[in-house]
Amino acid sequence: MKKNAYSPSRRKFLGNAAAAAITPPFILRSLGSFGPGAQPGKRLRHASIGVGGMGAHDLQNFKSHPQVDIVAICDVDAGHLKSAAAVVPGARTYRDWRELLEKEKDNIDSVNVTVPDHNHFIIASHAIAAGKHVYCQKPLCHDVAEVRALTRAAVRAGVVTQLGTQVAATVGDRTGVQWLREGIVGKIKHAYLCSNRPGAVEAYRLVGPRPAKGETPPAELNWEIWTGTAPMRPYAPGIYHPTKWRAWQDFGTGWSGDIGCHIFDPVWKGLELKTPLSVTAEVQQSWRDSPARRGDTWPQSNHITWKFPPSERTDPGGLTVEWFDGEFYPPEEIRALYSVEKYPAESSILIGSEGALLIPHQGTPVLLPESKFKDHKRPDMQDQNHYHNFVNACLGGPGTESFFARSGPMTETVLLGTVAIRVPDTLLEWDAEHLKFPNHPEAEKYLRRSYRHGWDDIKV
Ligand SMILES: NC(=O)c1ccc[n+]([C@@H]2O[C@H](COP(=O)([O-])OP(=O)(O)OC[C@H]3O[C@@H](n4cnc5c(N)ncnc54)[C@H](O)[C@@H]3O)[C@@H](O)[C@H]2O)c1
Repeated sequence: MKKNAYSPSRRKFLGNAAAAAITPPFILRSLGSFGPGAQPGKRLRHASIGVGGMGAHDLQNFKSHPQVDIVAICDVDAGHLKSAAAVVPGARTYRDWRELLEKEKDNIDSVNVTVPDHNHFIIASHAIAAGKHVYCQKPLCHDVAEVRALTRAAVRAGVVTQLGTQVAATVGDRTGVQWLREGIVGKIKHAYLCSNRPGAVEAYRLVGPRPAKGETPPAELNWEIWTGTAPMRPYAPGIYHPTKWRAWQDFGTGWSGDIGCHIFDPVWKGLELKTPLSVTAEVQQSWRDSPARRGDTWPQSNHITWKFPPSERTDPGGLTVEWFDGEFYPPEEIRALYSVEKYPAESSILIGSEGALLIPHQGTPVLLPESKFKDHKRPDMQDQNHYHNFVNACLGGPGTESFFARSGPMTETVLLGTVAIRVPDTLLEWDAEHLKFPNHPEAEKYLRRSYRHGWDDIKV
């Protein structure tokens, strides 16, 4: 860490009145409702869309709120739907989310969208158009332009929203955010984010190629609706549904898109970032050298760099944020600020003018050097439930922390990385207001997709 003149630490919290300042001017901010808590006696009528995988976890969390009625559930896989129906026996069941939104439009107040990334936008935007509050899994959408459109739609509709970064409600992440807002480690110059999760490559970061021939989808799976907005591919077992869709550009958003919102979240909130000036990416050589892999799958290793303009909480020269996954690790001298051996596989570390802050994902933040900060008191707080915070906001309680007007610009930033991955080693200057790369317009085609015929009723 470079030693420089320590500036006096700032202790300043973000109040609701100042919250508008956290959103880029091109996205109007919806402040939502701020009150003492969920109004007693009120109930939220909720529908869950996607109830297998993470959806099962989401369903349990919504169900566990004492003021929630799960009215309806939906899944394209009849087996997953059946398992979920056993958890919420009173809920009506659907295989097609369009039918759910139509038939239940007068019976539900909110939905959660927990399907693969390529269909987040179409489902969430229809729910918002129907006036429903929306909890949407991370990353908010598959593409940058989708995020922008969904964020604007949510703000216009004035609905309550929450991005599915549930760790944001834990003491760990909230402590990190608070310490950054208090400026304990001074002005931040550099942040290193990483996800070097062992086993992830084998589990669901497939290399490809697709099998030469597809198979008839199993009877319990509606492959047409599963595919939704994406190009129709012949069904093949074990490589798309469930979980492994992440590997493919059609459906997933790569390693950084998958985990990036989680790791970025406390950094984004703590520094109140708005939008980067530029992005560039380095990728693993074997993917770079393979036209087949570049056309279809995501790399198994990425290193992304964003530059941000200076702000109140950053170094006067601005902020650099780097992301590392797979075979790319934060530099050894940075990991050594904590411990190279024990460095958390998923974490962020922020280098400031007065020290450094390590925020392990799902762990306890550490101020560095530890000897300097050993007497620093941790904030007195309890874990919260991210899902319950959303429900409480829908029921007239305090606003959510991961509302789309804040988490949308963060997701756009994460997804800019997925654009840069496809044009590696190229600095892309970002004109956020106009969704353009002025110095490299060829890359703008990766900001949006064309939807498959029949799924293109909403233009992005
Ligand atoms: N917040 C987290 O920690 C976390 C963890 C895992 C996954 N996720 C996110 O949750 C989403 C789902 O991921 P997953 O790992 O559970 O995937 P998955 O493939 O394991 O499960 C997806 C579920 O949605 C169903 N489904 C797919 N398309 C559907 C559609 N169009 N309509 C209704 N149901 C549909 C599938 O049948 C399955 O039950 C992704 O966006 C992912 O990024 C978040």
